[in-house]
Amino acid sequence: MTKSNPFKFGSVVDEPFFTDRNNELQKVKNVLQSPNHLILISPRRYGKTSLILKAVKALHRSYLFIDLQLVTDTADLARQLLKHIYRLFPFEKVKQYIKHFRVIPSLNINPLTNEIDISLQPAFSADFLLEDVLNTIEKLGTPDKRIIVIIDEFQDINHIEKGLDKKFRAIVQYHKNVNYAFLGSIESMMREIFEKKKSPFYHFGQIMPLNKIPEDDLLLYLNERLTEVCSDKEAGLQILNITKAHPYYTQQLAFTVWDICRADKKISNPVKCATDYLIQIHDIDYERLWNNQTQTDKKVLIALANNESNLLTGTVLNNYGIPAASTAYSSLKKLMNKGLVLKSDTGYQLDDPFFAGWITMKRNSIFQ
Ligand SMILES: Nc1ncnc2c1ncn2[C@@H]1O[C@H](COP(=O)(O)OP(=O)(O)OP(=O)(O)O)[C@@H](O)[C@H]1O
Ligand SMILES: [Mg+2]
Repeated sequence: MTKSNPFKFGSVVDEPFFTDRNNELQKVKNVLQSPNHLILISPRRYGKTSLILKAVKALHRSYLFIDLQLVTDTADLARQLLKHIYRLFPFEKVKQYIKHFRVIPSLNINPLTNEIDISLQPAFSADFLLEDVLNTIEKLGTPDKRIIVIIDEFQDINHIEKGLDKKFRAIVQYHKNVNYAFLGSIESMMREIFEKKKSPFYHFGQIMPLNKIPEDDLLLYLNERLTEVCSDKEAGLQILNITKAHPYYTQQLAFTVWDICRADKKISNPVKCATDYLIQIHDIDYERLWNNQTQTDKKVLIALANNESNLLTGTVLNNYGIPAASTAYSSLKKLMNKGLVLKSDTGYQLDDPFFAGWITMKRNSIFQ
């Protein structure tokens, strides 16, 4: 029988790929079972979407999911929400509410996709439409069966339209039949939105930072799955040393190691082979990414690729030709906002271990 690879990366995971997160799952459920709202923050690809979807499915509640990165403007946001409403509730029921909208959209069922196409007359007010749509969700929910509205990459709200946060908050603050769950991957921006007194969303809900999956649990998960194809007993630990337990990169590397081992059970050092392979297949992306950085940012990236997590000390700054701690600090801040650098209890590190490997490999090859 052909075994299938037991690792999955790049999209939402559920059983059998989902591991650990029992406490986090319970916390998410607790908030959603109360009349409060949830703000889930973690760096990219730590598992926010997987966690929230697992929680709402376990609660058997109706939910809508919108990714703000894919929304183009306020009207588009309203339109996408409306499409979701149609997927959740019978057409006739929703029609009763739409009748009273200040802007009445025309709706057609696309016979190819069975989806609703929503078109709007020219010069309509997108603000009215958004308000009417959000209030419809409130009317469709009940205090015992609150609808869960999940909005991913919420920190982009003001990129869609300046001041949209204020309008959005003004509408949803009265809602009692909805739990809002706002997810975000740029911590500084999310904290600005939810923790700054001046922000319309100040203290809007329960903030929950999502950390990495504990290394011990991840190691068990890896060993259990690698053992059937991989004779190298150290492989799991080596994977975690490289990925520093980042959920996505751990799954990606484990997936590749598993494939390599299945093809050649006796291969020596499968983790090194898999790492080299992943660095090589991303060569073009990494080159582009590298060329888009300023000279100072490149120096900071090189230092981090060399595991200099304590970058702001005099010796390290000197060694990498960074003029001052303040320069390094503003570069780190910029790189964190781009999602390239993470800050943890142990200091700063590159988010992508294979990009770190690429930088080191390229620079070493110059001297060969
Ligand atoms: N609980 C988990 N168990 C195992 N792997 C996980 C878990 N959570 C996340 N992962 C890994 O991380 C990847 C990213 O997960 P997910 O898309 O849920 O993260 P995210 O934080 O929503 O990412 P993004 O920032 O891109 O929206 C998954 O494809 C999977 O490989
Ligand atoms: Mg996500």
